[in-house]
Amino acid sequence: MSLRFTHEPLTAIWAALAAALGAVEAGAVVGAEVPHPDLAAQRYDGEPTAAGRARPLEAWAELAAHLGATLLMPEPAGDRVRLRFRKLSARSWHRESLPSGHPEKYGADSDFARACKFEQPGFLAAWRDALGFLDLPWPARVLSLGCHLGAELAALRAQVDTGSAGALLLGVDHSASAIAEARRRHPGPPFDFQVHDLAHGPPEGLFDLVIAINVLHSRALDGRALLRAVVKRHLAAEGRVLLGFPNARHVDHRLRMGARPKHAQGPELSQLLVDVMHARRYLHQQRFKTLATGTGTVLLAGRRLSP
Ligand SMILES: C[S@@+](CC[C@H](N)C(=O)[O-])C[C@H]1O[C@@H](n2cnc3c(N)ncnc32)[C@H](O)[C@@H]1O
Repeated sequence: MSLRFTHEPLTAIWAALAAALGAVEAGAVVGAEVPHPDLAAQRYDGEPTAAGRARPLEAWAELAAHLGATLLMPEPAGDRVRLRFRKLSARSWHRESLPSGHPEKYGADSDFARACKFEQPGFLAAWRDALGFLDLPWPARVLSLGCHLGAELAALRAQVDTGSAGALLLGVDHSASAIAEARRRHPGPPFDFQVHDLAHGPPEGLFDLVIAINVLHSRALDGRALLRAVVKRHLAAEGRVLLGFPNARHVDHRLRMGARPKHAQGPELSQLLVDVMHARRYLHQQRFKTLATGTGTVLLAGRRLSP
């Protein structure tokens, strides 16, 4: 099926493309010939030009995402281009994986283990913002709760001078297979990885930074009690925290904004806001200065001020 758009507003394009995608099976490709996206270089989205309404490639990619599709490599068609929208299947590992709370839900062989957050530009941007805000002096003792394959600790090691003497990058997770893989990827000091169930609280020790990204929201954990325990008993006087709350999910290998449709009590964004605002309010009560940043994963970074 092929469509052709020139001067139509986005409302009309949305309706036509949604209907075309609705009529085909997952994996099928719907074509649409449109004005060359590079025409939009000096134009706002949808601004009229003689050749048609200007729309950059990222606007078409965003539209595809909203319509359950992904944008494939466009093909030149004279002074226009032919866009190709591949319809995604509804398949999502979030639905198909082991139940929440199972130690191997995120095991080394899971689909989750194939998707590295540090390969997502949006996550990397938020991570860099958060680290800039935290301004952690090194060498430091860092604890990652729900560390999975150790990517967060490895990113710290790569981006800052962790120093050798005195630095500790400790990751804990209840998945034995994830911890084994983390040890294989990041052997020896300053890394240390331990199998640990957070249902019993954080592991022993005092840390300069505690990371908990996409862990505290788990329905199988009391995330609020865990945060209180970290702040009260496991953080140095001017310690930092870096918390993450998921606002994206994978659909057929593509990352899509909006989290937890299955688990949310109400509209999913409301639950995310409740989680973030609760953690932020608590940190402020405990003399932290905070920064909230990010989209697919909302990061909440906190620095405890000296008394
Ligand atoms: C959604 S993943 C996030 C992993 C990593 N922090 C990231 O953002 O990519 C949640 C992680 O927390 C771990 N986890 C969940 N419940 C846990 C528990 N009770 N004790 C220890 N780890 C747990 C899971 O095994 C998994 O590795």
